[in-house]
Amino acid sequence: MTSQMTSPTPVSRARRARSPLALAPLALAAAAIFVGAGAALAQNDPIAQRKALMKAVGDSTRAPAAMLKGEQPFDLVPVQAALRAMQAAGKQMPGLFPDDTKTGGDTAAAAKIWENKADFNAKWAKFEADSTAALARVTDDASFKASYPDIVRSCGGCHQDYRVRR
Ligand code: HEC
Repeated sequence: MTSQMTSPTPVSRARRARSPLALAPLALAAAAIFVGAGAALAQNDPIAQRKALMKAVGDSTRAPAAMLKGEQPFDLVPVQAALRAMQAAGKQMPGLFPDDTKTGGDTAAAAKIWENKADFNAKWAKFEADSTAALARVTDDASFKASYPDIVRSCGGCHQDYRVRR
């Protein structure tokens, strides 16, 4: 770098002669294409999206699970966070199983999903409705213990039919 700058070859002198401003629009256009492709890629990766949504739900249920077992005192904040993650999954999941995502991306989705789409989507609708209802209903330990266990039972209910055990 330094030696090139102190003793420029004819080639590098020719490069530097070209105005940097003339190249700027090209660089900007290239950057725009790059960023656009990245965003489109993330948006068009339904397998990664559905796995991330489910993982967020799974992670969010840890604290409430400990509360149910009496290992942790009741705390409304993580309970509401878990219910919101479930609500978001219930809303978004049905749109993340297009026909071309039956395989690949390390998916654990069972082929049965595409054979029983109506039932699968109905399960998500119920999941969303139940978590929405619980968000309104749960205010304390008693109301948490009354509504939350039924919702987490539906995790296994769906996984049993529609998620491949690995
Ligand atoms: C209506 C169906 C359905 C319900 C309800 C459901 N899941 Fe899932 N879940 C799936 C499917 C399908 C997959 C596999 C997705 C894939 O690999 O493409 C999955 C995957 C997962 C994963 C693995 C994510 C990863 O990193 O790959 C976790 C964790 C998980 N679910 C947790 C839960 C929890 C916790 C609940 C309940 C609070 C729940 N799920 C409710 C269908 C469901």
